[in-house]
Amino acid sequence: MEGVVEKARGDDVHVLSDSEEVDGNAREAILDLSLGWQVPAALRVIVQLNVPHILATHATAPNWCMSAQEILQHVSDAPRPNAVNLERLLRLLTCKAVFAEHIERVASDDDNAGVVRRFALTPMSRVLLPDHPRGTFRGMILHMTLGPEYAAALQHLGASVLNSDQPFAKAHGINQFDYMQAHPEFLTEFQNAFRAFTPRFATTMLSKYQGFEGLHTLVDVGGSSGMILSHIVQKYPHIRGINFDLPEVVAENPSFPGVEHVGGDMFESVPGGCDAIFMKGILHDWDDEHCLRVLQNCYAALPNGGKLIMIDLIMPVETPSNINYIFQIDFNMLFHCANGRERSKAELNALIKQAGFATFDVVGDAGLGYSAMEAFK
Ligand SMILES: C[S@@+](CC[C@H](N)C(=O)[O-])C[C@H]1O[C@@H](n2cnc3c(N)ncnc32)[C@H](O)[C@@H]1O
Repeated sequence: MEGVVEKARGDDVHVLSDSEEVDGNAREAILDLSLGWQVPAALRVIVQLNVPHILATHATAPNWCMSAQEILQHVSDAPRPNAVNLERLLRLLTCKAVFAEHIERVASDDDNAGVVRRFALTPMSRVLLPDHPRGTFRGMILHMTLGPEYAAALQHLGASVLNSDQPFAKAHGINQFDYMQAHPEFLTEFQNAFRAFTPRFATTMLSKYQGFEGLHTLVDVGGSSGMILSHIVQKYPHIRGINFDLPEVVAENPSFPGVEHVGGDMFESVPGGCDAIFMKGILHDWDDEHCLRVLQNCYAALPNGGKLIMIDLIMPVETPSNINYIFQIDFNMLFHCANGRERSKAELNALIKQAGFATFDVVGDAGLGYSAMEAFK
């Protein structure tokens, strides 16, 4: 039968009934997936060379574009610059709309040799500009996209399956947050990477979730820079904000009106004297045992009737056919956190109830794939 492959192994006969066309498409799809690492690798180099910034500051009208050769003239520390290789990376990224291409024909034939190729910024490369007013993704690419510490951890991904190893700890001897304490430059890069997400996240969350109304004192547990809390107290100026994070994190924090920074360890205790606690993106960093400790400390810090507001991703029961954000973040938790993972609504409910809370509800959409959840003591 045409297009049918029969493979015999002893008595066991497997019949693969894919047609040649289905098989061919499958091969292309697998190849495309397996080469997917090229784009982040090229992106990382482009950001390291500051190409978006060079285009923003040196490209001129009318097309605001530059050739690889012109770009390289603004890159310092390139002893033997190679414009052809830079152009190859730029073209790959142009296929993904990171740059736009302008071609000037300088010879009549339409061969590559007869053109001067220039590149311009697009909305995608503009978010890599270091001074983007809504936050830059430059830090995220430099830190997380194949950054050396994470690239080393990736080598141990298989060991997470075979030995239950934590890839980051296997590569570096300690978990990611302990590593940050020992390597201040890594901590700074991590904080910078996260800052890019905050303004858009905070604005979207505040347009969708109204549960801060009527609160007096709100503690943000694991609040990092305090930027999310600063957006909350800007909208609700009657709220006193307490931003709680590790001492070495809050020591470096900028000050925000209406936000007090407090350093400590959430596994020991969290600040009391509040009527509500806010947590975003914390539980997914940790295993159940650590989550329970944080939640119990939140419970102890709240008065009777006090509210825990959690903004997090919720793992769906059914797996979608396209990779979406939650699976990408869950993958990150797998390889760089201490048994962290995204959890389903039932798993979150079980942890919250085990910590002593009387109620737990998913109260709505917080935007950008996040859900707003509330638990009352
Ligand atoms: C994934 S970040 C989330 C930051 C912020 N909530 C956000 O969503 O942008 C996790 C935060 O937890 C903080 N953290 C880790 N261990 C902690 C501990 N033992 N006590 C307090 N904060 C901690 C980290 O410093 C970091 O700022």
